[in-house]
Amino acid sequence: MADSDKIDSRLSNVYQNPGDKRDLFDQWASTYDHDLVEDLGYVADVEACRVFTSLVEDRQARILDAGCGTGLVGRRLSQAGYTDIHGSDYSAKMLDQARATGAYQSLEQHDLTLPVEAEPLYDAAITVGVFAFSVPSVEHLVNITHGLKLGGTAVVTVNGKAWREVDWESRLQGFNQLYPTARLVEVQTIDYLTADGIDGRVLTLERIQ
Ligand SMILES: C[S@@+](CC[C@H](N)C(=O)[O-])C[C@H]1O[C@@H](n2cnc3c(N)ncnc32)[C@H](O)[C@@H]1O
Repeated sequence: MADSDKIDSRLSNVYQNPGDKRDLFDQWASTYDHDLVEDLGYVADVEACRVFTSLVEDRQARILDAGCGTGLVGRRLSQAGYTDIHGSDYSAKMLDQARATGAYQSLEQHDLTLPVEAEPLYDAAITVGVFAFSVPSVEHLVNITHGLKLGGTAVVTVNGKAWREVDWESRLQGFNQLYPTARLVEVQTIDYLTADGIDGRVLTLERIQ
């Protein structure tokens, strides 16, 4: 797929801003679905859910959608037959939109720079559209796996432009040695933002300790 050097200003606002972006996401919540899906051809949710459903067969699995935004992923998983979906996000306004989908059993405000504290633990987790240029980053991936049962799977996307520009590949080298509770199992290339020709990656992680 051809990559593009341009990134839409609605995205660069939130992706490339190194500060706390919670207010920006709050402001974006009401137009997010239209902007991202219809204008920018966002398909990261479709692609990540495809990978997720191929790995997590149990439709009763207790699932965390971390960084759930307006609930695009929860809606898709619900349509695929999953019944125990929980969401988290640090933007209260995004959580309001997610609540309106009716796809989630629970929703909570949580910052992914901190570990997911779950009781009971989740069977699986999915995080889409959250990891890109700045924070959260590689060192925060284990915050998601922290909330998983042993053997649990997390499916996490990374924006492909960020993948190249901040060299995620190098930064992931040694991940399994550095973070012994989790294992990076696989990295797959996916379509991500089709209008700008930006691809993405799906990381599959497993909780092993
Ligand atoms: C581009 S949206 C993706 C939302 C949804 N997963 C999707 O695929 O449509 C990114 C989301 O991540 C959330 N987010 C960004 N940084 C976060 C952090 N450190 N902790 C929790 N949520 C965060 C934002 O509030 C926003 O809802």
